[in-house]
Amino acid sequence: MTTFHALYGHQPEGEWAAPGRVNLIGEHTDYNLGFVLPIALAQTVRVQARRRTDGRLRLHSAQGDGTVTELTAEDLAAGTVTGWARYPAAVVRALLEAGHRVGGADLSFDSDVPTGAGLSSSAALECAVAVAYDDLYGLGLGEQELALLAQRAENRFVGVPCGVMDQMASMCCRAGAALYLDTRDLSARQVPLDLAGAGLRLLVMDTRVKHDLADGAYAQLRAGCERAAELLGLPALREVPLSGLDEALSRLPDELRPLVRHVVTEDDRVRRAVALLDAGDPAGLGPILTAGHASLRDDYRVSCAETDLAVVAAVAAGALGARMTGGGFGGSVIALVAADTAEAVAGSVTQAFRSAGHTAPAIHQAEPASGARRVS
Ligand code: GLA
Repeated sequence: MTTFHALYGHQPEGEWAAPGRVNLIGEHTDYNLGFVLPIALAQTVRVQARRRTDGRLRLHSAQGDGTVTELTAEDLAAGTVTGWARYPAAVVRALLEAGHRVGGADLSFDSDVPTGAGLSSSAALECAVAVAYDDLYGLGLGEQELALLAQRAENRFVGVPCGVMDQMASMCCRAGAALYLDTRDLSARQVPLDLAGAGLRLLVMDTRVKHDLADGAYAQLRAGCERAAELLGLPALREVPLSGLDEALSRLPDELRPLVRHVVTEDDRVRRAVALLDAGDPAGLGPILTAGHASLRDDYRVSCAETDLAVVAAVAAGALGARMTGGGFGGSVIALVAADTAEAVAGSVTQAFRSAGHTAPAIHQAEPASGARRVS
């Protein structure tokens, strides 16, 4: 492996890590200012970093082609960066735009978060840079501020109008807990979740159908929700109570109704999921996950043949519940299973993919892991 010294001729000042995430429930609720319930994965983006005094950003990735991308302060300001380097560049631009007096850096990345798999590799990359810069330049920003900064970087300088869930999950999750987050005021609670202790496993099944949130579909859905809220005279769909759903739907044009139904019922599923975890019944989450998938498939329409198949095959093989996680259009499916059925469920899903002629999914198990941190 190429060392930092071999790349840049000196040692890094430290190393930082930020994780990918899976969202247990609460999908497409964040930009409607509703609730989400993600956990961090053990998979992280790690960055070794050192300050530079000339304002340049030099970037290398162990997953890249070996080259070092060098950006001058002018390149950064012009926003002409392409490829994966857009993400670190966007974070530095967002810091500068917010008035932080930061300079350049040599950054060397290594990641085991799969890309395009709905596991938030981009938020992990952004948060790794944000947390490294915070330490390197002594900014003293809190986790929440760093998450908001990383989100702003993606919204303004990468051009994806994402909500705040992925960045908040990568920054604020803790090992052994799910993050119950209210995306309106960012109040958050760590909800203990000991899957192994409850005799459960969480399978994360990457369907290998690459999703790309920058392709416009996500932005269209978001715009649809914002239009519906405007027609209802509300700041966001979060304000529609479950008891007022039918009345709200009756005031909307046909094409917006399913979007609103998903958001409002999904917010309710998050609350019910948290109540079950608080009551010490994580297995009770199963049916809520599967109902959430049906809503994403039938109302929000962000599922695809492979994610639907993974859910159906997992449930048929005995999973307590399953659903796609993340923005959709491919990506990963999570399945909550009893520990002694984990292998059988994984095997059935793989077999179902083979029979349907799909590429085999990549399946691993997840336990709630830590958020972004300095590692050395
Ligand atoms: C993507 C976005 C998040 C969130 C999810 C859907 O992961 O980055 O902000 O909207 O989709 O829940």
